[in-house]
This record gives sequence, structure tokens and C-alpha cells, in this order.
Amino acid sequence: MRIIEFESAERLHEIVAQEIIKRVQNNPQLVLGLATGSTPIGVYKKLVEDHKKNGTSYKQVTTFNLDEYVGLAKDHPQSYHAFMQEYLFNHIDIPSHQTHIPNGLASDLEKECQQYEKMIQQAGGIDLQILGIGLNGHIGFNEPGTPFSSETHVVELTESTRNANSRFFASIDEVPTHAITMGLNTIMQSKEIFLLITGSQKAEIFRRLMEEDVSEDLPASILKRHPQAFVYVDEEAASLLSS
Ligand code: GLP
Repeated sequence: MRIIEFESAERLHEIVAQEIIKRVQNNPQLVLGLATGSTPIGVYKKLVEDHKKNGTSYKQVTTFNLDEYVGLAKDHPQSYHAFMQEYLFNHIDIPSHQTHIPNGLASDLEKECQQYEKMIQQAGGIDLQILGIGLNGHIGFNEPGTPFSSETHVVELTESTRNANSRFFASIDEVPTHAITMGLNTIMQSKEIFLLITGSQKAEIFRRLMEEDVSEDLPASILKRHPQAFVYVDEEAASLLSS
């Protein structure tokens, strides 16, 4: 796991976007793993700007999102389907059938998880996975205690995650209690991984990630075992580290 620090989130977004664009240009059929949450929004903005200005094409790119709430319709404003449309897919030339997000309304959720896992494999695996991190160290919706061997599965969200995400809903009661998420093993199969950490709110979890051993209590710590995992962090998030 390599750490790359930036003086600002703006600069981080710019460089991460450039790295993604480079990979799309080198491999137009790139399989890209995407994340939601506030952290990657700045990166998606840069990708859209570049697409409009320089015409980088996503016509042959395939995407797989990390997760989706259970029980929200695709057009629910807080669904991750709606998020991806709003921040990325509506503004680039990717065909919608090449974008994949777990279906949180599937009648058989177990089957949906297995199919999602299979689709990733059929696409040849994820070339580059973008990740954010939760305040408790979750990646995707893999909460502390999730086995490192996990594949795409249904999870019950912790109170802390529902609380953190309630800022997007009218009240905490409206935050779904369950979600579908790629598992930690699914994420680890990606050829390359970019974990983005920005803002002072994430300083404590970044400090823990740096100082604690690899353990299922800190899901993101598994990335230390990945040969091509890069952590992009801004100064604010790195502020609690002594060195
Ligand atoms: C959410 C998502 C994660 C995301 C994390 C952090 O619960 N499931 O994929 O990385 O929380 O979100 P944010 O970037 O808004 O801090």
C-alpha cells in the first residue's frame, strides 16, 4: 500500500482523475470499479470536464459500483443508481448497459449477489477500483468484522454508518437498514486500487489505518496486502500523523 499526499482535496481530485483518464486512454475497454459518497464527487467532476473538453471516450468502458442500498428504487434520489447518473453517467458517453450497480430491489437478494460477482468475473475482473472509507474503516459497505474472504453480499448497516449517511436523508429512519456490497475479497481481486481519503473528519481513521495492524476490525487494513493499492490522502486527513 503506497501513500500519496496532496496539499488539498482539489489537487487530489485532479491527479486521481488524470490517473483514471490515462488508464482509459491506454485501455479503452477498461473495467472500472466505482464508489459513491462525497469523497469521489470531485474526481467525477474532473472526468466530466475532461470528457467535454478533450473528448476522452467511455464508449467501451465497463463499470461496476461497489454497493447499493436495499429497498431503494433506482430513481430514489438517495439511491446509488441516482447518484451515479447525477455525478457521472449522465455526462459522459458510457452506454448504460455497460454500467453495473447491484439491484437493491431484487426479489432474491442472494441470487443478485452471486450474479453480480459472476458478472465481474465475466468482464475479466476489475482493472481499477476507486474506494472511499467510512469513519469506522469500512470500504464499500463492509463493516468492521466482515470476513476478508467475503464476496458480494447483503449487509446490515451499523448504527454509525446509518448515522453518517443520514445527512443525505430527511431523517435517520429513512436510511435503509441493509445494503448489497462487493465483499472484501471481491475488492482485493481488482488489479489496482485507489483509496481516497479527504478532510479532517477522516484524520482519525487514516491515523488508525496507518498505525494499526491488518485486522478484520478495520476492513480497509486489508489493502496493505494488495500489491497495487494506492492511498490518496489530503493534508487535512493526514493531519493526525506524527511524521
Ligand atoms: C458510504 C459508502 C462508501 C463510502 C463511505 C464514505 O457508506 N458505502 O462506499 O466510501 O460511506 O463516504 P464519504 O465519502 O461520503 O465520506
